[in-house]
Amino acid sequence: MAKKTIRFRIFENPDSASAQVAAEMALLIRERATLGRNAVIGFSTGKTPLPLFEELIYLYREEGLSFRNVISFNLDEYLGLKTDHPANIRNFMQRNLFDHIDIPQGNIHFLRGELSSGKIKAHCVAYEKEITDAGGIDFQILGIGRNGHIGFNEPGTPMNSRTSRVILGDTTREDAVPDFGAIENVPIHAVTMGCGTILEARKIILMAWGLKKSRVVRRAIIGPVTPKVTASYLKTHPAAQVFLDQAAASVLAQD
Ligand code: PGA
Repeated sequence: MAKKTIRFRIFENPDSASAQVAAEMALLIRERATLGRNAVIGFSTGKTPLPLFEELIYLYREEGLSFRNVISFNLDEYLGLKTDHPANIRNFMQRNLFDHIDIPQGNIHFLRGELSSGKIKAHCVAYEKEITDAGGIDFQILGIGRNGHIGFNEPGTPMNSRTSRVILGDTTREDAVPDFGAIENVPIHAVTMGCGTILEARKIILMAWGLKKSRVVRRAIIGPVTPKVTASYLKTHPAAQVFLDQAAASVLAQD
């Protein structure tokens, strides 16, 4: 039965929220390491997880947290970018997290946006199989787009969608302009884990910071479960939480 609410927590700022997410992730990784098992983490990109990545790097450098038993899957990738493009999700992750911790390169999984369109469908099916073969995602990190997307699952995407090629919405492309210099350089297509794929993760934390996200956060948390705001699907998940800073939470209480 779908529950009608989603648990949310409001923090002083993105750093304090991210420290809590990192602590929960570190606990999982260490518990699994003690048992000789892997921890399967789903990572998102964008500005939102940057303080989390900094905290994870700190825990690696200063607190002895090892990522040797971590298997990672990233949520999405732009289609059609060269593999050396700086906005490529793979390069973003290497630059901001993976180059700075001890996760084995062979444990890292990315969707491949450079593949020709004829190969994408099979690649998406194979990606889902890799997730299943790894035992499923234990802990999925999410951001939220101004249009309520999770991954690149834009408004209108059904709750049971699987990993596939998608068309990016206008606000998503506008928000990506700083990474590409001009709107005409922002890809029109992407590949993303589906909503159904994401909802299979055992634990999910969606993070949102700043006033810019406050209205859509309110719609996701207070509004109905609707394809208009794909983040609202998290209400159907037994262990999804939303972590907010004060600005992102600022309109939650308004009528
Ligand atoms: P942002 O993107 O972290 O850059 O705001 C989040 C998202 O679109 O999911």
